[in-house]
Amino acid sequence: MPSADRTHQCDFAEPRIVVALDFASAGQALDLVDRLDPARCRLKVGKELFVRAGPELVKRLVDRGYSVFLDLKFHDIPNTVAGACRAAADLGVWMVNVHALGGKEMLEAARRAIDSDSQRPLLIGVTILTSHDTQSLGEIGLQGDPLVAVGRLAELTQRTGLDGIVCSAQEASGLRVRFAKDFRLIVPGIRVLGAQADDQRRVVTPAAAVAAGADYLVVGRPITQAADPLQALSVLEQEMRSVRRRLD
Ligand code: C5P
Repeated sequence: MPSADRTHQCDFAEPRIVVALDFASAGQALDLVDRLDPARCRLKVGKELFVRAGPELVKRLVDRGYSVFLDLKFHDIPNTVAGACRAAADLGVWMVNVHALGGKEMLEAARRAIDSDSQRPLLIGVTILTSHDTQSLGEIGLQGDPLVAVGRLAELTQRTGLDGIVCSAQEASGLRVRFAKDFRLIVPGIRVLGAQADDQRRVVTPAAAVAAGADYLVVGRPITQAADPLQALSVLEQEMRSVRRRLD
């Protein structure tokens, strides 16, 4: 492990695992949520579930005591994104995200829209989607190594006052050392050793993600498809804690 990783110590007093509710209906999502515990995990609501179940479901999850990451990746003109972020804050979500490719003005407008709230959501930037490679980025006019673009957009995100970024564990290890500890890195693509990768091209263990500098781990199918979701959560938590002990 690079020595810089040792400076990064997660505080595990708060839940670090964010369960991705990738379901097609509120009923399916609530069936799972009934088997989870807001003291042990947070929840992520993405585009499919939001389009199907809407703000009502988000409010229900918040009312049940869950911290909700509204993963809608806003990207539009500054005024429109500002309004969407304001609406997300009014729902009481814990975290919301926007595309850094929307540019400085859009990012600043998003931040200003929620700034005055005493309990505002964390505002997170999406840099380059991990589904892109060098060729597909070139096709949209972004030449060069995707990692360089990720770094540039992460810096823009930080400079415009956002609270962190979504990134892969592979990106996290290089980014962690460039930013202060309070710039959150949110990392998906997590699997315990030996688990199936599903459609993820590259997966990392919870331990490796934390060692790379992740603050929050986004986990979907390993928990949502488990026979015992809380037990699956425990296994992931234990792995995260083992890294912390090593860092201590
Ligand atoms: O089921 P699984 O753990 O693979 O789900 C991962 C979650 O993280 C999904 O909601 C997916 O959309 C999200 N995500 C991802 N890779 C990214 C960004 C988000 O897997 N680069």
